Amino acid sequence: MAFFLGIDISTTSSKALIIDDQGRVIAVASAPHTLQSPKPLWSEQDPKEWWQAVSTSIRGALEKANLSGEKISAIGLTGQMHGLVLLDEKGNVLRPAILWNDQRTQVQCDEIHQRVGKSKFIQVTGNVALTGFTAPKILWVKENEPEVFAKASHVLLPKDYVRYKLTGEYAMDKADGAGTVLFDLRARDWSDEVLAELDIPRAWMPRTFEGPEFTGYVTPEAAALTGLKPGTPVAAGGGDQAAGAVGMGAVEPGVVSLTLGTSGVIFATTPSALIEPEGRLHAFCHAVPGMWHFMGVMLSAAGSFQWYHDKLAPELSFDDLTKEAAEVPAGCEGLQFLPYLSGERTPYPDPLARGAFIGLTLRHGRAHMTRAVLEGVSFGLKDSFTLIQNAGMGAITQVRASGGGIKSPLWRQILASVLNSELVTVNTAEGGAYGAALLAGVGAGTWKNVAEACHACIKITGSTLPDPAQVEAYQKAYTIYRSMYPELRETFVQLAG
Ligand code: XUL
Repeated sequence: MAFFLGIDISTTSSKALIIDDQGRVIAVASAPHTLQSPKPLWSEQDPKEWWQAVSTSIRGALEKANLSGEKISAIGLTGQMHGLVLLDEKGNVLRPAILWNDQRTQVQCDEIHQRVGKSKFIQVTGNVALTGFTAPKILWVKENEPEVFAKASHVLLPKDYVRYKLTGEYAMDKADGAGTVLFDLRARDWSDEVLAELDIPRAWMPRTFEGPEFTGYVTPEAAALTGLKPGTPVAAGGGDQAAGAVGMGAVEPGVVSLTLGTSGVIFATTPSALIEPEGRLHAFCHAVPGMWHFMGVMLSAAGSFQWYHDKLAPELSFDDLTKEAAEVPAGCEGLQFLPYLSGERTPYPDPLARGAFIGLTLRHGRAHMTRAVLEGVSFGLKDSFTLIQNAGMGAITQVRASGGGIKSPLWRQILASVLNSELVTVNTAEGGAYGAALLAGVGAGTWKNVAEACHACIKITGSTLPDPAQVEAYQKAYTIYRSMYPELRETFVQLAG
């Protein structure tokens, strides 16, 4: 029997997950990371912490599975996307990693659009430059820490730093490579043109690989630290969203994955490098060889409900809140919630956007407000869903839902009716780590390709259908929701001072 190890370097922790060649989860172990915000808008981590946490969790998973490292046939990597790790020519870390949720680079984003030309930048990379992405972070270091920039020799992303520690190789997968926005999306590799326009040396960028391809082998030093066998192959894997989609079986056009976690993501596989002409959707390479994907990211999804519970009703359980909310009619009798509590990415890339309850009357109470939060978040996800439907990728045949918010039957029903689409759940709950382990299994030849691995291991466990009466109420309410942000945009700028 073969075993595969998936490693996920997320913002909060590193996780190691072992599966067997039937796709069964054998063991999971994790270890936490700390997050630093030395200045407002900054979000940083020490890459050395990732490596320590990964070593601890690999040892923990092997121990829980009661397996020797000899039994692991291949490893796959995933993790937080877009974070900038800068190394010197000897591979030493030059400064803390600047993470995906760091917001310091608006000036550099504007500069990129100006230097390359915004529409050309979208045409080549498939995206607009956003503060979260990697390219503006490199320019920020150049402009603000020239002494660090002068020593730089290698650019990596978080999971690729762990890859470097495991294998000694500088390498990256194509999905995460595209998320730097320094990729030629169609060519699935670095854009010499964009790199040249931004004066970023091509030699700093690592070789890029398709998700299941092997990028290197565990070194004796890494083996001694982790308990793995020297020489174990390490597959490219993918950024957390692409590997998470593999872990949900969203690997073919038509099957969309919806993640209702702190943030909310709609992810759709595309068979070619499609682009949303204004760059309102992210367009990256998939971890599936030769596939691309669209993605819409909402920053406060289940995070909005968490905020609402923690600040306004901490004495109640989430279940108590949703039970009350289920008694309120769809559309909340005219009450709406805008979920932009941490600004927004899709469809409005606006760090100054704010949350709001709109339409309150004497009739409305807590149950209405709770339901309005669930509905507002669902409308926000519909924004991405609609952009994807209109971007020329053909019919959406299935929506696979995951994340903490999906545990609520009420929220599942609201989402199915708002999207007017069947929502299904699957038997896997380990997200990117599971997808990374499957990619390793494909690399090792256990499954012929990613689709075959997903069909063999991932099964549908539940389904929620739209409720026709709700569908109608939500179509009306969504029209009003759509009109609110454009009307309030200027107000949000003023409120932000
Ligand atoms: C995707 C994104 C997040 C991070 C953190 O664009 O920014 O998913 O990868 O998890």
